[in-house]
Amino acid sequence: MSPQRYARIVGLGQSVPAHVVTNDDLAKIVDTSDEWIRSRTGIVERRFVSEGESTATLAAAAGCRALDQAGVSPGDVQLVIVATSTPDYPLFPSAACLVQAELELSRAGAFDLSAACSGFVYGLITASQFIATGAYDHILVIGADALSRFVNFEDRTTCVLFGDGAGAALVAASDEPGGLLSFVLGADGSGGEQMLVPAGGSRCPITPESAADHQNTIHMNGREVYRFSTTTPATALERAADAAGVRIKDLDLVVAHQANVRILQTVAKNLDVPEELFFTNMDRFGNTSAASVPLALCDAVTEGRIGPGSLVGLMGFGAGLTWATAIWRWHGLNESAD
Ligand code: ACO
Repeated sequence: MSPQRYARIVGLGQSVPAHVVTNDDLAKIVDTSDEWIRSRTGIVERRFVSEGESTATLAAAAGCRALDQAGVSPGDVQLVIVATSTPDYPLFPSAACLVQAELELSRAGAFDLSAACSGFVYGLITASQFIATGAYDHILVIGADALSRFVNFEDRTTCVLFGDGAGAALVAASDEPGGLLSFVLGADGSGGEQMLVPAGGSRCPITPESAADHQNTIHMNGREVYRFSTTTPATALERAADAAGVRIKDLDLVVAHQANVRILQTVAKNLDVPEELFFTNMDRFGNTSAASVPLALCDAVTEGRIGPGSLVGLMGFGAGLTWATAIWRWHGLNESAD
């Protein structure tokens, strides 16, 4: 019988655009205020891509850092998964193919994964299956989005929420027990209209009229999304914890999608755990969709909130509607980088 194989994250990388947009900057273009945005969302500033930047440029930069930290050569990567809702091109090539070319991952297959803000956790769980079966030893999983390109800056209810960025994890096979202990993937497509970009796909191609009416930008029912975000993902995290044979209270940290600090405070209250169990960094980045979990994971490790042996809850949730939770036993990064 072949020995059991475990998925180990051996390198992490972040990339955000240089252009910082504060709440006060937004208050100059839309009827809002720093006070409203901070108190309702916890967001203080976010980054927006500039000319020449895109989802794939951010993804490649984050991926490059993850490879460097892991000490893994590009030629050893066998698969690159880019979770994104905002690929550089509407149909093809995928963002993952652009990253594959930029990083010269000569042996890697490449595909994009579309699960909105849940995408990175979906990707990490997917990668872990390839590792467990023995199919691959090195997989680059990236969450990257540039939602500022799809925001209506005349709609104050959405344009203050989002930011751009990318985070990456190099997942390697290990014989040391740990990594993915359990997971729950979920979706409720009947809630698709709660968060939707109506035009620009095959159902409703962009016309001059639909573009003028901002139909190719994010439309959101904020209250319904809030209601979903504070209930379903928490239940899925509890189910994942049950499957791993642990309690939420046993977790050292939960790294959740960084949509809004009030969502995470409410989830913590409902789960009867301290707010501090939920890592937050949306104050600096806003809601970066698929990038938010890996950006937070990277910061949590850098800040020492996660170290070798830590029991970590991962919780993605977003448009679709989709959710993905996992219980992950942290091995530690590449030994020389720990
Ligand atoms: N600045 C000032 N006032 C605003 C703004 C703004 N940016 N946006 C809305 N308002 C106003 C509204 O117009 C409304 O005014 P009115 O009472 O005169 O009509 C008032 O503020 C209250 O509006 P609500 O929508 O009730 O505000 P609420 O407290 O629900 O907060 C929010 C809105 C922050 C969007 C909340 O519903 C929320 O957090 N929803 C979750 C959505 C989310 O995080 N989406 C992210 C993408 S999805 C995901 O990542 C899972």
